[in-house]
Amino acid sequence: GAGYASEALKSLLADMFSRRGLHRVVAVTVADNSASRALLTRLGFRLEAHYASAFYDYRAERWVDSVGYALLASEWGAN
Ligand SMILES: CC(C)(COP(=O)(O)OP(=O)(O)OC[C@H]1O[C@@H](n2cnc3c(N)ncnc32)[C@H](O)[C@@H]1OP(=O)(O)O)[C@@H](O)C(=O)NCCC(=O)NCCS
Repeated sequence: GAGYASEALKSLLADMFSRRGLHRVVAVTVADNSASRALLTRLGFRLEAHYASAFYDYRAERWVDSVGYALLASEWGAN
């Protein structure tokens, strides 16, 4: 809640796109992890997929959905 995750992810993306020259970065998180989803959206990631019953949550002892996000180098440059 102080911006540290956004700052860290921004640095990581700058390294991947600017220094390493990657074309596309993907991120997958549990669908009901709203904080992770907000972080990805804040950084410009696009929601591309919803995977049904994709991860087994051992603490809750049930299958949970996950979601896939992506960001292209061209989109990162536009931010
Ligand atoms: C996912 C996770 C890292 C996101 O962290 P986060 O604190 O929401 O994200 P940030 O560090 O970027 O902080 C952003 C928040 O800080 C606030 N903020 C305060 N001061 C700020 C500043 N100087 N700069 C930027 N944001 C600031 C923002 O307004 C935002 O608040 P909001 O969510 O109420 O809008 C965190 O929820 C977490 O550790 N979760 C548990 C582990 C987990 O889920 N891991 C992934 C699955 S294994």
